[in-house]
Amino acid sequence: MLEHLSLQNFKSFKDADFDIGRLTLIVGTNASGKSNIRDALRVLHGVGLGYPLAEILGEKYGPGGILTWRGIRGGAREAARFGHSRFMLGCTILVAEQPLLYRIAIDLSDSTGPQVAEESLWHAKSEAFIWDTNPTDDPVEQHNEHALRVRFPRGGRHKAHGPVAPFSPNRPLVVQIAGGTPPPAAKKASEDVLDALRGIRFLDLDPDAMRVPSQPGQVILGDRGENLSSVLQAICNDKQRRVTLLEWLRALTPMDAIDFEFIPDFSGRVLLHLVESSGAKVSAVSASDGTLRFLALIAALLSPDSGRIYFFEEFDNGIHPTRLHLLLQLVQQVCKQEAVQVIGTTHNPAMLAFLEEDALNHALLVYRHDSSGSRVRKIADLPNLREILKTQDLGRLHATGWLENAAIFSEADDDDADTEGVG
Ligand SMILES: Nc1ncnc2c1ncn2[C@@H]1O[C@H](COP(=O)(O)OP(=O)(O)OP(=O)(O)O)[C@@H](O)[C@H]1O
Ligand SMILES: [Mg+2]
Repeated sequence: MLEHLSLQNFKSFKDADFDIGRLTLIVGTNASGKSNIRDALRVLHGVGLGYPLAEILGEKYGPGGILTWRGIRGGAREAARFGHSRFMLGCTILVAEQPLLYRIAIDLSDSTGPQVAEESLWHAKSEAFIWDTNPTDDPVEQHNEHALRVRFPRGGRHKAHGPVAPFSPNRPLVVQIAGGTPPPAAKKASEDVLDALRGIRFLDLDPDAMRVPSQPGQVILGDRGENLSSVLQAICNDKQRRVTLLEWLRALTPMDAIDFEFIPDFSGRVLLHLVESSGAKVSAVSASDGTLRFLALIAALLSPDSGRIYFFEEFDNGIHPTRLHLLLQLVQQVCKQEAVQVIGTTHNPAMLAFLEEDALNHALLVYRHDSSGSRVRKIADLPNLREILKTQDLGRLHATGWLENAAIFSEADDDDADTEGVG
């Protein structure tokens, strides 16, 4: 589970630190920085996949020249905040009840490509390091600009330096350590971090991609919703899940769907059909965009090969306002039952009214105030938020930019309080 994220000089963020819950809704206007948070998570996901830094930020081509990784918007050139040549990303990951803090700083000033500037792994609670980069005092080693040294603890905390080895700065060290022969505890913790980061999925659903038939056995939903038919088919092999899926579909849409059918074409690929009580069968090709988006969302969360952390861009896109509460109810239920984590972006603060206590406590507002870039604020901390959620028309608050204004005004209050404290 991902517990915390920090971004320094990454894209529009100067310095942001925030907790992530089972469900984390990120609310913000256009260009506020929501997708830049996704980009930060994609960098970390690229680390989890073991890619070199140049490929994480740029693109990766697999065998046969097929694009296997789309890189980060803006590539290495625009990854650091404008005017800076280095950024840092950090995350706290809960592994077997133990929070591990992983941090990586990437330098973009070298013409040969992005390089690790600093990297470390810590026990977040005890603040004991598991390994970190350790600039060497040895003048011979200092001469070797293209190798990084790592220190491991030996015996007591922080005291003696354990074995050191030169590592390539072109690839995240956590990957090199997990694949090398460091002290076993360092290797295991590095593997755990990589495993968690690999499990992040990014969904930017596109109904047209969901209308394409797919091969039975393809149980991983593509980022745009590809393979929807075969993923749903795999879910429907479990009777209980099939019933649950139908119940949710009937609640969310006015369709009177009583069953799913997966009809094969001449190549053996299947296409989802929704069977209505009248006997009519509606294929995915003519099902509505909203129905498909909703099915893809559930397919992702219930898929037998589900990831563990999902990032949904524009979560509520295509869902009618009167059905939003059902969508959120479903997601919150799945997050609790299936041990998955969901991070979703939205422009619509009306979604806040449907969040249970834990999700409301983790909901984030991303906003821009002055030239200092994007800021992240826990929405539950905004003054009078709960009373306003109960009594006000959130649609109007959205239209008038109330959340952003409340954040900016309360920021000014905080600054006053800080000054008073100092004086
Ligand atoms: N390297 C950078 N330095 C500073 N600002 C940047 C950098 N790269 C991107 N930005 C800013 O981030 C903005 C885009 O942010 P982002 O894509 O996260 O917005 P969003 O909240 O997802 O908006 P939307 O709701 O429209 O999708 C750009 O308009 C730009 O101002
Ligand atoms: Mg966006």
